[in-house]
Amino acid sequence: MDPNPVQFHVAILPGRAKAEYFEGGAILMERTVLEDPNISRTPLTEIYHKFLRPNSKLFGNTFSDDNKGSGVAKCNLQLRNGPEWYRLRSSIQHAMMRPQSVQTYLPFSQKVSQDLVSHVASEQARFGAVNMQKVAGRWSLESAGQILFEKSLGSLAENSEWADGLIELNKRIFQLSAKMRLGLPIFRFFPTPSWRKMVQLEDEFYAEVDRLMDDALDKLKVLDIVENKNLRFASYLINRKELNRRDVKVILLSMFTDGLSTTAPMLIYNLFNIATHPVAQERIRKELEKDATKLPFLRACIKETFRMFPIGTEVSRITQKDLVLSGFEIPAGTPVDINTNVLMRNTVLFADDPLIFKPERWLDKSTATHHPFAFLPFGFGPRMCAGRRFAEQDLLTSLAKLCAKFEIRHVGEPVTQIYETLLLPRGSCKFEFASV
Ligand code: HEM
Repeated sequence: MDPNPVQFHVAILPGRAKAEYFEGGAILMERTVLEDPNISRTPLTEIYHKFLRPNSKLFGNTFSDDNKGSGVAKCNLQLRNGPEWYRLRSSIQHAMMRPQSVQTYLPFSQKVSQDLVSHVASEQARFGAVNMQKVAGRWSLESAGQILFEKSLGSLAENSEWADGLIELNKRIFQLSAKMRLGLPIFRFFPTPSWRKMVQLEDEFYAEVDRLMDDALDKLKVLDIVENKNLRFASYLINRKELNRRDVKVILLSMFTDGLSTTAPMLIYNLFNIATHPVAQERIRKELEKDATKLPFLRACIKETFRMFPIGTEVSRITQKDLVLSGFEIPAGTPVDINTNVLMRNTVLFADDPLIFKPERWLDKSTATHHPFAFLPFGFGPRMCAGRRFAEQDLLTSLAKLCAKFEIRHVGEPVTQIYETLLLPRGSCKFEFASV
């Protein structure tokens, strides 16, 4: 592995990606954030506390017509700005971001984790190893079903053809959009074959999700008196007076698409780190035997995995006023990206080698590792990932259950990352699960 973190990150993006990826905006590197104490925190806080995110030129422009997916596909929360974004985001803030609220979903998260353990055991018995590329996708879909549609989608059952089809569709959308991003952007001027393919894939995907949302919403009840704290997510949404059915669908769809593409790869990266570090794996098991409630070491392993295997490539904002960053004058209205992945491999912050898996670094609160901007896999400020608490809870409960039940070994080529719009697993995603 390349010892230079900057080169490492660039290395995983093919040559052309750099130009496109960095096109039309400023890039904040770790230099801005860390090395100039006078300017670092102010502009970063300044940028991150503003709500505006640049609208990707690729996403949000396809879909054959606005009626597909009831026209909600184009309205993903990620792609919105200004008062419309603020209205929707504030309506879910309470239910999504407070750890206490997300606890409401803990029993469902535990049920999905239990189903995952049974599914893994059955796949292990049938095939002698488990292809987590498939299984992690099914797990994430099942979890989304429980949280967002308030029902089991049967994704972890023996016959998961429907789930596999939807996951494959999503994967093809991500692969094609990466290819289109890295190629000449002719599709911006006329509909190329790639563009038409993208429209077709997205229409297919969103039609399926739209059906799921309609099924769920038709069954949910609008209550006379609302006891918000006990409601599941979709019920909570349809009982919010300020949201109409279309708003609810925009939110559900945003949560569904963003969650499906992120938690599954994160489960694989975590399993890879745990499997290839048997001492840490043993320590997780000991921790589980002692007290399975707080799990500080497992949490540190998950945090370290987010650091080493970041799934996003950057966090973006549009500057709201003129700023000077690292000596460069950045006018208001400039799209600014921060490459958080370079930051999370910084040799000052992670002094005892940023390239090694060392969960312990998160347990010692006195080190530079705890710089407020050292760990940004979920972004920062009011536009921080809306599903962060869900993702963390799902990963913690499922990894805890898997580690308690199995000794986990990785089989084949090491897992690395490839740019497919997100940084997704490359290498072998096969694992062996032996009962302990
Ligand atoms: C598992 C790992 C995940 C990672 C690393 C991740 C990362 C991110 C990042 C970096 C952003 C942009 C934040 C910013 O600009 O400051 C974001 C936004 C978002 N994420 Fe996630 N995410 C994850 C899982 C999820 C899940 C499970 C859901 C839904 C259940 C979700 C829903 C969203 C939504 C709706 C937004 C847009 C928020 C807005 O614009 O207001 N994410 N995520």
